[in-house]
Amino acid sequence: GRVALGIDVGGTNTKFGVVNHRGEVLEKGRIKTDDYAEVEDFVDALYENIRPLIEKFGTKASFDGVGIGIPNGNYYTGTVEQAPNLPWKGIIPFADLITAKFALPCSITNDANAAALGEMLFGAARGMKDFIMITLGTGVGSGIVANGSLIYGHDGFAGELGHTIVKPGGRKHWSTGSEGSLEAYASATGIAITAKKMRAEFPSSMLNQYPEDAINSKTVYECASKGDPIAIEVFRYTGQKLGEALANFVMFSSPEAILLFGGVIKAGDFILKPAKLHMERNLLPIFRDKVKLVFSELDEADAAILGASALVWEQKSK
Ligand code: BGC
Ligand code: NA
Repeated sequence: GRVALGIDVGGTNTKFGVVNHRGEVLEKGRIKTDDYAEVEDFVDALYENIRPLIEKFGTKASFDGVGIGIPNGNYYTGTVEQAPNLPWKGIIPFADLITAKFALPCSITNDANAAALGEMLFGAARGMKDFIMITLGTGVGSGIVANGSLIYGHDGFAGELGHTIVKPGGRKHWSTGSEGSLEAYASATGIAITAKKMRAEFPSSMLNQYPEDAINSKTVYECASKGDPIAIEVFRYTGQKLGEALANFVMFSSPEAILLFGGVIKAGDFILKPAKLHMERNLLPIFRDKVKLVFSELDEADAAILGASALVWEQKSK
């Protein structure tokens, strides 16, 4: 049967898969995004790593194309512009670079939009017309589905909810310089910053058993699971900031559900419970106790890969 390549480019890792029309990921792999200072080297490495998967399927002729979800990816232009958490600056003609290397047609969209599409077609958002996907990884992204379709906006960049302000005058973003964005608190990067601050204040915290560069959402989770109250507080605070932001988002588009996706969701209830509490607390009564707040149903890697690959066929049918 016909297949497509789905690629999910993240700030830290890039995952890829060969996907069929039924949304089955037949083969998959990954490379590190941040190992490549130049985008051309990244595209070369991607091709070298994906070539064996293509050969496994006989020939390139079985592939209808490449679909890509990437931070600050523009569906309309195929470019990636000034992504805060990618090593490559400026305006990059990403779809063209991929087409030149792979000799296959390529469509791109924002990584969180791709994850939203994947959930809508194959996961927890099947049958939903209004939902918001929030991705919590190196950065915080979102895909907003309203009235049955993704919001792209005037220039294709709609849904940058990670950069909305949750604490005016708050923490300065490491790349954009904005003050108090959701991403500065609720991304894996933000969680590490919170954890480093809190462990300095509380010498007895288990978090102090790690060297500075080992403090990340994974080690905070380890400490929280062992009952360290400071690590638990790191997630509670993160969940609070997230929940306050979610209340705003709910009032914007009245979603049936908010789906959370990405590496940070491994923290589970440590984040989900405070997020729910602070979302509900800040909602206008007409919205209260209605919105489902759930984790992605698809395996961490798959929602964005599936959504990205779906772009290939979506374009075709136009
Ligand atoms: C970018 C988004 C992206 C998100 C998650 C943010 O910093 O602005 O475009 O979706 O990170 O990767
Ligand atoms: Na988006």
